[in-house]
Amino acid sequence: MAQFSESADVPDMGRRQFMNLLTFGTVTGVALGALYPVVKFFIPTSASGSGGGTTAKDELGNNVSVAKFLESHNVGDRTLVQGLKGDPTYIVVESKEAIADYGINAICTHLGCVVPWNVAENKFKCPCHGSQYDPTGKVVRGPAPKSLPLAHTKVDDDKIVLTPWTETDFRTGEEAWWA
Ligand code: FES
Repeated sequence: MAQFSESADVPDMGRRQFMNLLTFGTVTGVALGALYPVVKFFIPTSASGSGGGTTAKDELGNNVSVAKFLESHNVGDRTLVQGLKGDPTYIVVESKEAIADYGINAICTHLGCVVPWNVAENKFKCPCHGSQYDPTGKVVRGPAPKSLPLAHTKVDDDKIVLTPWTETDFRTGEEAWWA
């Protein structure tokens, strides 16, 4: 009998320890969870790590490597990445060694369809209602009322960093309507 109660105690102890551990783990988890926003506030995100801006991401959410991007695209290509606020944004390959210093927001200024680049016709053509934009995203045919918004692009440590374009729209000489 003594042997029986002894052996019954062992799993009991084990269970208590386990419960303690679980409680501790839960409390620690909650505490860390509560701290997370505070900690996050003090740690710069990758997006703002280089003095502001958003790092361009591919469709899987990975940072776009400029070296690989240039390797796998031709001069003149316009390729979608996730840009400012996650908006689909075209990166322009300007030469074998460089991307253009501007990106083109791909959201049609008519009713918001994503506008594909048409290589054969050298323009952006919206499939929804036929709006057209030139290779820089300047509207050339309605019903879209405005050109596609621009963003600044720069290369930082093999990444593409986008920042808002608030200056004059170089395509029209007018104020940036989206700023
Ligand atoms: S949404 Fe592009 S033309 Fe209407």
